Amino acid sequence: MSQIPVAKPVLDEREVEAVRRVILSGWVTQGPEVAAFEQEFADFVGAAHACAVSNCTTALHLALLAVGVKAGDEVITVSHSFIATANAIRYCGAVPVFVDIEADGFNIDPELIEAAITSRTKAIICVHQLGMPCDLRRVVDVAAVHGIPVIEDAACATGSEILWKGRWEKIGKPHGDIACFSFHPRKVVTTGDGGMLTTSNPEYDRKFRLWRQHSMSVNDTVRHGSKRVIYESYPELGFNYRMTDMQAAVGREQLKRLPEIVARRRDLAERYTRQIADIDGLRPPAEPAWARSNWQSYCVTLPDGQDQQDIMQMLLDCGISTRRGIMNSHLEAAYGEPNTHRISGDLNNSVTAQNTTVILPLFVQMSDADVNEVVAALASSLTVPEAIIAKTG
Ligand SMILES: Cc1ncc(COP(=O)(O)O)c(C=O)c1O
Repeated sequence: MSQIPVAKPVLDEREVEAVRRVILSGWVTQGPEVAAFEQEFADFVGAAHACAVSNCTTALHLALLAVGVKAGDEVITVSHSFIATANAIRYCGAVPVFVDIEADGFNIDPELIEAAITSRTKAIICVHQLGMPCDLRRVVDVAAVHGIPVIEDAACATGSEILWKGRWEKIGKPHGDIACFSFHPRKVVTTGDGGMLTTSNPEYDRKFRLWRQHSMSVNDTVRHGSKRVIYESYPELGFNYRMTDMQAAVGREQLKRLPEIVARRRDLAERYTRQIADIDGLRPPAEPAWARSNWQSYCVTLPDGQDQQDIMQMLLDCGISTRRGIMNSHLEAAYGEPNTHRISGDLNNSVTAQNTTVILPLFVQMSDADVNEVVAALASSLTVPEAIIAKTG
């Protein structure tokens, strides 16, 4: 029986050689490789500044602190995201205010933001869920009216693009105030774990660099290279949110492969979409005309009345791994207490999406035949409605 995982990173001797080079250099913590990775990432997305950190959760934390989010403030976001999005808000002592997602996608409904704004709103985190750009133009426009900073949770969106003022631009330029990326192995490029913050604001970038290393006044590389004795100081509270040079060396190799990775992922997604169109009631993910997803994940909506878990189990029995659609933070016990969040309006689309969608395998090494196999297994796992059985006998 074939085994098709849901995801698989693209790693080979090039990454091994990169890490080997760093290990043998004797400098393994944040240093020259991190600096080079930051520059290459900034160039790739078209950002003025890029600052590498330990993961996207820490990136979100620093982004929120940089725009001034403090205890008691509110930050508007979606519940329908990996829990890290909401958790980062709570690390600041602030309250996540959840609004619903759009009915025909998995991203924030910009229409609902206005009603969620109060005098305590200090930021908006919009998520480019599963690599699909959210409707940033509308998010940024509402935010601008109220002078609220926009943080893009671009954890899944390295290599995704958005049509901006008539030009295709990479997510992360950024189009909001700060964008935060993840290099977890489930993402399109990986450093094992890792994150990146991009911004055009030099003051934010200065803060990220200070805070990621305990707010130490002198970084390791500078102190190491100095011909004079330097005593460092710690002007404010900081964190250990550094990326290592070993991770950055892997990241640099991954970045070189990124265009090829995204191109193949887009081919595979197109193949899925064409085939799924033939299956009654099964809905492929929609890509708006102004978005080009990197297809970090390919998430289908099941026909009405189908049992998500049964279908996933049937696929697993055929050797095909899937995941349920994106979770909702407000349904988790960690968000059980009323003071952990606020809901603006209702979250009906978010809850429906969690319960009626399935993430199918999609990774570069997948063959066209693998896609055919997944779609065939999915089609045969769908239960035929009683009415059709009665008609056809
Ligand atoms: C939307 C979203 N935000 C944040 C994160 C957190 O990323 P990391 O694991 O790099 O901290 C993830 C990771 O899965 C994510 O999917």
